[in-house]
Amino acid sequence: MKSFQRTLVTAALPYANGPVHIGHLAGVYVPADIYVRYLRLKGEPVLYVGGSDEHGVPVTIRARKEGITTQQVVDRYHQIIKDSFEGFGISFDVYSRTTSKTHHKLASDFFRHLYDNNKFVEQTSEQFYDPETQEFLTDRNIRGECPRCHAAGAYGDQCEKCGATLSPDELINPYNAINGNALTKKETKHWYLPLDQYQQWLEEWILQEHKEWRPNVYGQCKSWLDSGLRPRAVTRDLDWGIPVPVEGAEGKVLYVWFDAPIGYISNTKELCDAKPELGPWETWWKDPSTRLLHFIGKDNIVFHCIVFPTMLKAEGSYILPDNVPSNEFLNLEGDKISTSRNWAVWLNEYLVDFPGKQDVLRYVLTANAPETKDNDFTWADFQARNNNELVAIYGNFINRALVLTKKYFDGKVPAAGQFNEYDQATIAEFQNVKAEVEKLLNDFRFRDAQKEAMNLARIGNKYLADTEPWKVAKTDMERTATILHLSLQIAANLSIAFEPFLPFSSAKLRDMLNMKELKWEELGNINLLQESQELGEVTLLFEKIEDATIQTQLDRLAAIKAANEEAEKQEALKNWKPEAIKEATTFDDFCKMDIRVATVLDCQPVKKSDRLLQFRLDDGMGERTILSGIAQSYPDPSVLVGKQILFMANFPPRKMMGIESQGMILSAVDADGKLVVTTVTSPVKNGSQVG
Ligand code: 2FM
Ligand code: ZN
Repeated sequence: MKSFQRTLVTAALPYANGPVHIGHLAGVYVPADIYVRYLRLKGEPVLYVGGSDEHGVPVTIRARKEGITTQQVVDRYHQIIKDSFEGFGISFDVYSRTTSKTHHKLASDFFRHLYDNNKFVEQTSEQFYDPETQEFLTDRNIRGECPRCHAAGAYGDQCEKCGATLSPDELINPYNAINGNALTKKETKHWYLPLDQYQQWLEEWILQEHKEWRPNVYGQCKSWLDSGLRPRAVTRDLDWGIPVPVEGAEGKVLYVWFDAPIGYISNTKELCDAKPELGPWETWWKDPSTRLLHFIGKDNIVFHCIVFPTMLKAEGSYILPDNVPSNEFLNLEGDKISTSRNWAVWLNEYLVDFPGKQDVLRYVLTANAPETKDNDFTWADFQARNNNELVAIYGNFINRALVLTKKYFDGKVPAAGQFNEYDQATIAEFQNVKAEVEKLLNDFRFRDAQKEAMNLARIGNKYLADTEPWKVAKTDMERTATILHLSLQIAANLSIAFEPFLPFSSAKLRDMLNMKELKWEELGNINLLQESQELGEVTLLFEKIEDATIQTQLDRLAAIKAANEEAEKQEALKNWKPEAIKEATTFDDFCKMDIRVATVLDCQPVKKSDRLLQFRLDDGMGERTILSGIAQSYPDPSVLVGKQILFMANFPPRKMMGIESQGMILSAVDADGKLVVTTVTSPVKNGSQVG
């Protein structure tokens, strides 16, 4: 393995078009934070670089929606996002923004350098255009029907309903998302990064030299490479972004995915310029002894493994990422997290709803981290992990060890006597934990690493349960002292082991133990606390979360779901157009259909079917039974009793669910798929023919 002198960790720059949510935290910022805190504890040189991604279309869409300027949008959300990260202890060394002067200059110079060295190809192509507003539309500003799931209002790059990645050309009936205008196509010139020219190099660099990358990352890269890379436009027709620094490119800006990753470089530069002790920024980006790691979510893999490295390679003087630990997605209560659909647990709201419980969320998100596959966050699991693990195991152990010390030894670390065999076995067991956690962290396996740290708490908890110092104290104070001495040493170890994962709780525990922050190397040492050392104030490390608190969150989500369903219905109705008229039929064919009027005598749902209703009709000649698949549209079918409806009398009889259906009820299909039975406007004799 290559040895490095320093590590530069980047975390994907979130779009400043809304607050950040649990998906962001679980996928990117907590794992990166755990890793960085771990390296810092080990005393290794490391920088953690982040910032807001303030260009691109999503922020302009949000501005139009809210009726404010784009600058106001990014100012607002940059602050909210930054505060949320601070609130959760995400320990960036720098958190800047892509609207900064440093970034505009660096990104612009980067583009110009590639341009001057003929690294781009210029190409004119046809793009969607709104003739009324005279603007080209970016993928996000084009909406239409999804070609896969047929949801209305899918975006030109993605369907939020089924998650399909789309191109605007695939949308059915595309329209301008802002004003609903129909679109035409018009020619425009752009600059392209010729990824095809780097295909062979990328294949070697990734597929041969980075076989150790996570299977999901490696697999996605392989599939991109296998299908053959094509040039990618790195400029856009847009008025928000970094102007393309080339004559004749007025009205064009750098594509957000060109400038955003350069933001990692600009933000490092800002940091190093402000703190000369870190050395020049170039050391962190150009010296091959720096190890570069990108923490991202899976939708960012292609940009960080293929596009950005190609940009860096084309530039020529930069290092390339050594690894890109990307996570899969976190869902919320079974559904895809979505900013535009408000289906998320927002971090700024969590901080208000659960003050002082940042570590609980950090813990749950790591315990459930979508490292190898998509995972689900549920409030029930959140409560269970808090109550059954943090409170019942870790918190319980700490509380018992400290309270007993207060009770029997006046709050001072008691002197240890001779450790017996059981003590020795416990010590040996917990000393193994260090190597195991390290191995897992070095492999970016944060979920398992945290589980190992929790094992240390389990060992402590079991030790107290087995040795029962509260009983021993009745007869043998010397032995009680030994048990509590060792328990307190384990507690001190826990503060180190959990520091990367649960930094707030570790700090609280250190206060309770009255100890300073220690280095990772001390983990496993059973002499961290001095005999007679006085403990601090004892409080609960974790608190139980009650059902009512969880129910409030579930109620909130239920209300959002209902609002989304209503909004989708409205969107479908707004864009609904009648089906095209079928090809001409003949009078004879029409006459073959025997459509008649009947009165509904009874209407009941068919047992074991959520679709079928059973009609009993008076058709003028007697009674007739017809089954119709409209149960979803009539939750209370008794409303149909007594109504005159139209049915086809000569539809061939057929059996469904063991019942013979003798005809077909004629219903109209509404725009949202709801079925409505048809009727006559004034009463007629049952059995009357319609024609
Ligand atoms: O997917 C996103 O949220 C992007 N804003 C990530 C950008 S990462 C980097 F390139 F800056
Ligand atoms: Zn879809």
